[in-house]
Amino acid sequence: MAVIKVGFLQTKPVFGDLCGNLDRVIKRLGRSDTAGLELLVLPELFSTGYQFTSKKELRTLAEDLKSGYSVQRLSALAKERNLHIVAGLAERCGKKLYNSPVLIGPKGLISVYRKAHLFWNEKSIFNPGDIPLEVVNIGKARIGMMICYDWIYPEVARALALKGVDILCHPSNLVLPNCPQAMITRCLENRVFAITANRVGTEDRGAGDALTFIGKSQIVTPRGEVLLRAASRRTAFAMANINVADARDKKITPKNHIFRDMRQDIF
Ligand code: ACM
Repeated sequence: MAVIKVGFLQTKPVFGDLCGNLDRVIKRLGRSDTAGLELLVLPELFSTGYQFTSKKELRTLAEDLKSGYSVQRLSALAKERNLHIVAGLAERCGKKLYNSPVLIGPKGLISVYRKAHLFWNEKSIFNPGDIPLEVVNIGKARIGMMICYDWIYPEVARALALKGVDILCHPSNLVLPNCPQAMITRCLENRVFAITANRVGTEDRGAGDALTFIGKSQIVTPRGEVLLRAASRRTAFAMANINVADARDKKITPKNHIFRDMRQDIF
């Protein structure tokens, strides 16, 4: 079974600076410590920043995924590096506006998931997602996208695990403190890997509440070990080799298979 080199980039976006935010990601990916990277996870809304003050403002920065600036630049990076990238973008589709993680490979856009569980003021500006959770085979691993506040619904990780996911890719803009620990449980209870890519910094755009993002991006194994965790205030890149076979073994003991033993009839 394949070993795959996976990583996250914990960024500090400048609100509204699509070009600069993309430039910084691409520059960081040019450094030698990223050599051999096969799957990269970037934060939620990494190219725009998070705290939109109105739908109108969001509409000016959100992108049509077919022709959008971020998708184009990430596609070029994925092609050049023979890499798969999961990244959170602001998506415009007709009149609708979504908070959408995308999967991009060497041939371009592969898959989109639209955030269904909107957090706090996101409810006033984004449309709730309308796409079922999906697992995509990228060759060495089956990956599934969830986004930020999805961590609080164990059903999201469970649904992806039941669809055969090996690696949960989890772009985030976390402000509550609990997610890094909670994702350890999500991994343990489903025997899957998770890569959470969060951001750092504070945004205070006059919408009433300054938001400080907690960093602590991490890679967690199916046995609940935190392989790597970033600091809470600094940007960071980290990468690890993971053995996908560890996520295909659903036995807790020789007699306990987490899914086959599940008593759906009493739930
Ligand atoms: C979040 O869902 N951005 C907390």
